[in-house]
Amino acid sequence: MSEMLNVALPKGRLGEKVYAMFEKAGFECPSIRENNRKLIFENPEAGVRYFWVKPSDVAIYVERGAADIGVAGKDILLEYAPDVYELLDMELGKCRMAVAAPKGFCDNSRRPLKVATKFENIAKRYYASLGRDIDIIHLNGSIEIAPILGLSDVIVDIVETGKTLVENDLCVIEEVLPISARLIANKANFKFKQRDIRALADSLQQQINNRTEVQS
Ligand code: PRP
Repeated sequence: MSEMLNVALPKGRLGEKVYAMFEKAGFECPSIRENNRKLIFENPEAGVRYFWVKPSDVAIYVERGAADIGVAGKDILLEYAPDVYELLDMELGKCRMAVAAPKGFCDNSRRPLKVATKFENIAKRYYASLGRDIDIIHLNGSIEIAPILGLSDVIVDIVETGKTLVENDLCVIEEVLPISARLIANKANFKFKQRDIRALADSLQQQINNRTEVQS
């Protein structure tokens, strides 16, 4: 029998949707639905082992080969540029990277713009493309607070429903990028497990196409 396929899933609702798609593709592992605190589940019959990891860590597991494949947000792939193959847009976890500011914000181009963000590289690239000088303030979460307290002028952050912005009196002033979840693979392991990974990716693509047809 060939080796197990090791899959890093992002813990949370997105990961549960992803697992349901993998299950449909023939990589089922019923024990994963048990309500417990285990983080690793395997089904030797289907040749698959799943791990629940923090969504922002999926790419690290895959890049280092601890997982053969995984599902990571395009935001993480752009920010950290891990050396992995990006095989498929899962068209899940859709949101956007945007610049937001307090209502009525007016940019003063005579001084660097103070930008608070978790996504330093994405923000630097975006403002470099506009030729705008910035002063980056790296935060790890609750970014929306920064302009309210005068720590920054604007934020660069993920906007999904827009609720967090509204509730903190901020609004989107520029769109940076659309974001969605991507299937990624470790480059070396892909060669050895190509058959399984390709079969899985084909089935996922089929499921995505069917989903799009139903919606349209
Ligand atoms: C993300 C993001 C926003 C929020 C946007 O934060 O940083 O704060 O979700 O979602 P919404 O548009 O649907 O309101 P996350 O929940 O990941 O937590 P964080 O504050 O730790 O970044």
